[in-house]
Amino acid sequence: MSTIIGIDLGTSTTEAAVYRNGKVEMILNFDHEAITPSAVGIDNGGNWVVGSRALAQYILSPENTAIEVKRKIGTEQMISIGKKTYTPVALSGKILDFVKTYATEYLGEDIKRAVISVPAYFNETQRLETIKAGRVAGFQVERILNEPTAAALSYGLDHMDEESHILVYDLGGGTFDVTLLEMFDGVLEVKASAGDNQLGGKDFDEKIMDWLIRQFQNKHGVDLRTNRYAMVKLKEEAEHCKKALSKEDSYQILIPAIATVNGQPVELDETLTRAAFEKMVAGLIERTHGPIDVVLADSGISAANLDRIILVGGSTRMPIVARDIEAYLGKAPDVAVNPDFAVSEGAAIQAAIISGEIDPNEGLIMTDVNPFSLGISCINNGRSDYFSVLIPRNTTIPTTRKGRYYTCYPGQTEVKIEAYQGESAIASHNHYLGEFMLSDIPANYRELESLDVEFSYDINGLLNVEATVISTGKSASISIDMHGKTADTEYYEDWKESPLAADYRAIIRRAERALKRIEDDEDEEEFASQLNDALEDLKRCISANDDEGASDAEDSLTSVLGLLED
Ligand SMILES: Nc1ncnc2c1ncn2[C@@H]1O[C@H](COP(=O)(O)OP(=O)(O)OP(=O)(O)O)[C@@H](O)[C@H]1O
Ligand SMILES: [Mg+2]
Repeated sequence: MSTIIGIDLGTSTTEAAVYRNGKVEMILNFDHEAITPSAVGIDNGGNWVVGSRALAQYILSPENTAIEVKRKIGTEQMISIGKKTYTPVALSGKILDFVKTYATEYLGEDIKRAVISVPAYFNETQRLETIKAGRVAGFQVERILNEPTAAALSYGLDHMDEESHILVYDLGGGTFDVTLLEMFDGVLEVKASAGDNQLGGKDFDEKIMDWLIRQFQNKHGVDLRTNRYAMVKLKEEAEHCKKALSKEDSYQILIPAIATVNGQPVELDETLTRAAFEKMVAGLIERTHGPIDVVLADSGISAANLDRIILVGGSTRMPIVARDIEAYLGKAPDVAVNPDFAVSEGAAIQAAIISGEIDPNEGLIMTDVNPFSLGISCINNGRSDYFSVLIPRNTTIPTTRKGRYYTCYPGQTEVKIEAYQGESAIASHNHYLGEFMLSDIPANYRELESLDVEFSYDINGLLNVEATVISTGKSASISIDMHGKTADTEYYEDWKESPLAADYRAIIRRAERALKRIEDDEDEEEFASQLNDALEDLKRCISANDDEGASDAEDSLTSVLGLLED
């Protein structure tokens, strides 16, 4: 069985871990560091750079570097690096590719399989795109795991005989998640998850930046926002300042020659106290209360019944966080896990459970919940586009739920079942998942024919929807792959939608034809496999809109084809 690693692909930082020799181990990158900045760019020589080198370059040439890519995942927004633009998937793929390379080096084994964690509150599009990014890097993504669940797994492995209600509070660089779990006898059960995937350390940095910009404007009448260099510098210093204030009571921000005023270079020199900083960010801290209330309400567990509060994510190092939690929940948080490593460690534990490295009979067992409600669109009291929920959010998965529906006009013989995910009462305002027709319903008076719709949601996030006509027993169904774990062959079929597709259609057709020709020929087995790899590689780069990668992949494909046709 090949090794599966666990990856915490964070907004600011990325970590990878592996479970071996009976324990979790952080995987070190080429700098011998466990923490890799989630930065990616192209250097002066036109080469891709990832991690600390990319972050260092960001300060000097931000236009050639991307940071905080995770915030854009699941959106249509493109990210520009140099003269080209890239999808968030392509750039996340570059980061994961870097992880794959250093993990392969560190473990001395070709690493191809991974469990990747995502914020619990990521929607299906964001999850699917994370899987795509994994594929861009050439990973087989074995499981998408919720970050707080991962953190709890890492805690649970060391505390298996405890019985407790655990609240995981994860405030990272870009997202906030809170999850309530129950643990007994080594079984870890997620009761509820909620969060805000647009709240994190980045927003705290921005509060400081806004303040610095206002101060500068007042003193010099210059708006630093129009100066890209100044903004990058400000961001760097604002983050420094924020981190320093986690330890110290005040911090001086000094940036020489940040801008030119009347032809003269002007410095920025401001001192921020912790007290003033905490006032600035009070609104952000306040925003964490909503999701906390949701998990307490959804799980039916009161604050008084919490046994442990676990802090995860770099932003929980701000003293105001622990203080606020204690004031709000009446209980001080624990310091039981390493806030930087807990998520990747948990992902590695999940990976080991999948690979069999951890014996499921002896180890930890985990159950999870679905973070969004699942249901269908129907007509209710004459109102169409009504969202009828079959599996409410925070239901323990796997689960199966059934609902009964009736025909809505006389002589109706077919009905379209459209599945959605989300919390809006208007179906189409939610995330669309898929649809199918149920036909051959006997023509009858309105509401006299009934049908059952059944939703089954499994641990891998696979949703199966089946509809049955009660009077005839006829049924129809679809499987909706919530986590995108489709068959291998379909991995890169979306290459056709890429803007690069036109350039490569001919070579792909030629390769596919060649592959067909030799597919059943035993003597050509080796060639077929080489050809297939080269072809997949090309499609992967095209899907990711990776121009350069595609052109390299095309070269290798051409040479394999050349060998074959000789
Ligand atoms: N000592 C500190 N004080 C305050 N903030 C800190 C400190 N150390 C790190 N941070 C902040 O923590 C954030 C990064 O945390 P972390 O690495 O857990 O996030 P991430 O996993 O990359 O993001 P996410 O989980 O949101 O995708 C950054 O915003 C960083 O500025
Ligand atoms: Mg994180």
